[in-house]
Amino acid sequence: MSVRRVLLIGAGGFGRVHLNELVRLTDAGLLELAAVSDVRLTESAAALIAERGIRHYGDYRDMLAETAADIVVVSTPIPLHAPMSIDALEAGFHVLLEKPPGALLQDVDRIAETVSRTGKLCAVNFFAPSRKAQSLIAHAIASGEIGRVSRFKAIALLQRTAAYYGRTPWAGKLTANGNVVLDGAFHNPAAHLLYSMLKLAETAAAAVGRESQPVSVAAEMYHANPIESDDTTAMRIEMSDGTTLCYYVTLCAREPETQRIRIEGAEGAIEWDYGDQVKIWRYGLGKSYDCAEGGIVERRYRNLIQTLDGVEGGLDVSLASARRFTLVANGAFESAGEIREIPSAFVRLSGAADQPGAYIEGIETALKEAFAEGKLLSEAGLPWAARPEPFDLREYRFFPQRFRMIEA
Ligand SMILES: NC(=O)c1ccc[n+]([C@@H]2O[C@H](COP(=O)([O-])OP(=O)(O)OC[C@H]3O[C@@H](n4cnc5c(N)ncnc54)[C@H](O)[C@@H]3O)[C@@H](O)[C@H]2O)c1
Repeated sequence: MSVRRVLLIGAGGFGRVHLNELVRLTDAGLLELAAVSDVRLTESAAALIAERGIRHYGDYRDMLAETAADIVVVSTPIPLHAPMSIDALEAGFHVLLEKPPGALLQDVDRIAETVSRTGKLCAVNFFAPSRKAQSLIAHAIASGEIGRVSRFKAIALLQRTAAYYGRTPWAGKLTANGNVVLDGAFHNPAAHLLYSMLKLAETAAAAVGRESQPVSVAAEMYHANPIESDDTTAMRIEMSDGTTLCYYVTLCAREPETQRIRIEGAEGAIEWDYGDQVKIWRYGLGKSYDCAEGGIVERRYRNLIQTLDGVEGGLDVSLASARRFTLVANGAFESAGEIREIPSAFVRLSGAADQPGAYIEGIETALKEAFAEGKLLSEAGLPWAARPEPFDLREYRFFPQRFRMIEA
């Protein structure tokens, strides 16, 4: 089998992680980085690719037209995901697309339509529980270790500084340059956690021979930072198999914690965290398992190449699986209707050393209590919280319907 040739679109920001990894994996003989496109290549990225003799293109379409390769990695701002992926698929490449696959469900559906028409693969670089963690959890659920599963809950207590919102023009924005970006807490830094919970719900249902699809979502979205989008969100998702998914995120914590997901069953519970550590409790007795499998970006490249080579197992994160994220994320905005500002009386500075962001007084305890009880923040009695309207996802295809966008 010849070494797969790879093209990279977007080599700055998170694209720099891809660039470094692609160079490293070229040296390791797994693949070959054939060319790079970026409209504003940084000096250090330019130096690296020049030193390696890798060609640079300002316009990615020229790169697609002129370079023979198998895979295109797309790591550009979110509104560019659909046009770039579609162009790459149409030109005969397979795609590894950065998360989220698009801001809009209709964009993800356009990519999906191109995937099915061209027969090419589109993998998405969402972080998800490792294969080891997923099979351990699936086995525990299938063998009845925690009894019938009723609820999944996810919590992210994160801290972001003012510098985070200043790092790129679309940070914290609902729209940028006339495009919808929806760059908020669950659409960007804690997107992996929402995706991971949806993935575990998919894995858990399959373990007992069921299918489970999101049916409705109720979401409350707030900001304490001076941004357009959310920095603090709670949501509840009802699934077609009767299970409920609860999700909590804030970027306004003073004491950040490892993101984690809890699966509750009639006889026990399972916890998974971002370090791929899994703990399974049955009738109060717990056992821990280390399910870490190494760097995520390398795993996504290896998985796509193995899938192309016909190795069993399929894509770790297919576009169809990632679509559930966008379905729920867009529906969450529709349910919230708007992003509510948390009154300044409840907001302090985060205490981060450099350019602190907003801290919401007592947010860690408030989110942990809501998480423990599976309540939305309005149900937990927070004075600034407002009850949302659940939003039906079953025939949902087009954003926005109820959400009040701010004009760019
Ligand atoms: N997987 C993760 O953990 C992770 C972490 C951070 C960001 N991301 C994702 O990575 C993607 C990029 O985010 P970012 O913060 O790096 O964005 P960014 O705004 O920093 O842009 C990334 C790069 O794309 C380049 N670019 C912009 N327009 C281009 C064009 N037309 N042609 C070629 N290059 C172009 C920019 O010059 C820049 O170098 C987003 O989808 C984001 O959600 C993923």
